[in-house]
Amino acid sequence: MNAAIRAVVRTAVARSLRVIGFERGYAGILDNESRFLDARAVSGIVHLGGTFLKTARADEMKTPEGVSKATKVLKQNRVEGLVVIGGNGSMRAACQLHEASGIPIIGIPATIDNDLAGTDTTIGFDTAVNTGLEALDKIRDTATSHERVFVVEVMGRSRGFVALEVGIGAGAEVILVPEIKYDIGEVCQTLVANRRHGKRSAIIVMAEGAGDSTDVTRTIKEKTGFEVRLTRLGHVQRGGHPTAQSRLLACETGAASVEFLLDGKKKHMTGIQGGRIVPVDLEYASTVEKPIDERLYKLALSLAT
Ligand code: F6P
Repeated sequence: MNAAIRAVVRTAVARSLRVIGFERGYAGILDNESRFLDARAVSGIVHLGGTFLKTARADEMKTPEGVSKATKVLKQNRVEGLVVIGGNGSMRAACQLHEASGIPIIGIPATIDNDLAGTDTTIGFDTAVNTGLEALDKIRDTATSHERVFVVEVMGRSRGFVALEVGIGAGAEVILVPEIKYDIGEVCQTLVANRRHGKRSAIIVMAEGAGDSTDVTRTIKEKTGFEVRLTRLGHVQRGGHPTAQSRLLACETGAASVEFLLDGKKKHMTGIQGGRIVPVDLEYASTVEKPIDERLYKLALSLAT
């Protein structure tokens, strides 16, 4: 997100626009806390994870009162265009805010969950997947040496995009995602059959939204008699230096958000489709369910024999 803020500020300044940054996202709008941002204010941050403006979950924005309070603050600050960097909830709130205020709003897709429609990927997703892979590669050493089964839970909220890509890259024997029903009995049978065929260890990558990983771990232990361990990667996946792909995406979408505002776009997200930045209706981005790539899921299964 830092790289995206930098791109927004520097593109806007180059176009002679004045930029202010609200602290803690919507929370800062509601509290009317902002700071003036010039080109120097965003120096030395392109390589840092997170956001120097900080962020917060602002549940008040889910209420009409919150939206009208935010509208008032934006008008008070004479905001003529707003750029919102975030995921599903941020984009939904942006739609409401645009409707209430009439202020043009451009969303920049940024979530490790990659769960926004109309964009192939989101800022942070590639970084989270690579962090997951690094952890999985390390866990694989213990799994192999101790001949164990590992259940590794990854983030992704209610979606399985992170689990799918981490699972494929790590060569996981099983991938459990919320979008595809699984039968834990069949998973156990697969593990037992694998062992009969000489596979002495296994890694199961499980999305946090695909069920209770503690239950899954216990059931596998009971049904197979194998030594099973559970690792939850948790918030490790949300930090660290962004990958090249995440930085590039942040730079491109950040710059595009300013151009979109100058072009007169009112309620759009800077999506990326097939390598090209495209305007995506904010409502569509935050309400339509992006399908998981079942072809990739099948590929993962066929390679995990
Ligand atoms: O939406 C991003 C995400 O990291 C999800 O993958 C995860 O479920 C959630 O946020 C964690 O949120 P919090 O840090 O508020 O617990």
